[in-house]
Amino acid sequence: MPDRKLTNEMLERMVDTNDEWIVKRTGIRERRIAQNTATWELALEAGKRALTDAGLDAAALDLIIVGTATPDFFTPSVSCIVQGKLGAEKAMAFDLSAACSGFVYCVDVADSFIRAGKAKNILVICAETLSRIIDYTDRSTCVIFGDGAAAAVFQASDADDGVLTTYMRANGTLGECLKAPILPEEDPLAPGPRAVCDHRFLKMAGSDVFRFTATAVPEAIDAVLHQANMTADQIDWFVLHQANVRILHMITTRYGLNPDKVYVNIDRYGNTSGVSVALCLDEMRKAGKLQPGQHIVICGFGGGLTYGAALIRI
Ligand code: ACO
Repeated sequence: MPDRKLTNEMLERMVDTNDEWIVKRTGIRERRIAQNTATWELALEAGKRALTDAGLDAAALDLIIVGTATPDFFTPSVSCIVQGKLGAEKAMAFDLSAACSGFVYCVDVADSFIRAGKAKNILVICAETLSRIIDYTDRSTCVIFGDGAAAAVFQASDADDGVLTTYMRANGTLGECLKAPILPEEDPLAPGPRAVCDHRFLKMAGSDVFRFTATAVPEAIDAVLHQANMTADQIDWFVLHQANVRILHMITTRYGLNPDKVYVNIDRYGNTSGVSVALCLDEMRKAGKLQPGQHIVICGFGGGLTYGAALIRI
């Protein structure tokens, strides 16, 4: 995660908002901002650390997938830049655009490549520099999002653990609810033929996305539980996209869960899009919370709109 913190108190001095509203409505206290840092730089650092942690040489990678909604270029992709810098000579590399569902979608793709026998070693990275597309005069979005990166290594194995089942969906008819154009759109009121205007910034119909999550998240969680023939009380951890603490509370109540089973770190990082689920898993593992044999449901939802869940045994 970038070192630079953007706290609620700092935002109070930038827009008409206050710490109490932000904490009560979102659960966020601070987020990280990657100043003068490209998405590929965050991705490369996370990827290097994951490889070191896994004790794997980049030369052994068959595939690198970067989940991002904020790539640095139309081309080359973030994953190709990372592939080149890592010297992962035999790896295929592509980016995956599923916004806040990024890591969960990447898990499904990595699992599918391994099951198809097309890859043995895969590096999945999620990286976002959302601060580049946030309008810091728009209080409805600037208090929500943060930057960061997280990565995981996937390896083929004969063991019967790993990704047990997945459920991935999209609802493109709701795409306008969360939109960030790639090119600045023409502003008829601004001078010049293609003046840069704030239309390049991310716009979110927050309450519409919130309503969508109320049905999409339980749909995805119910589906993976059903497919694995398991019930919610058999799951050790629910690791959901950190979009709003109220969504996490809604899921805790709906499934009658012990709140300690639903991991929360949105207070420290805000909404980091596809990064969030991987970031949670990394924190949990480093804190010794993850033990062999545990079952984890991961769930992502967001821009696209996309959503999905996976049930994993570690
Ligand atoms: N400070 C103070 N007041 C605010 C702020 C703020 N930062 N932002 C909005 N308000 C005001 C609004 O202007 C509105 O005022 P009004 O009633 O006078 O019009 C009031 O608060 C309520 O606004 P809502 O937008 O209805 O607030 P809501 O309770 O829905 O919370 C939020 C907004 C936090 C964005 C919520 O809708 C949400 O979390 N949505 C889901 C986001 C999500 O899941 N996104 C998907 C992932 S993102 C991705 O994929 C990149």
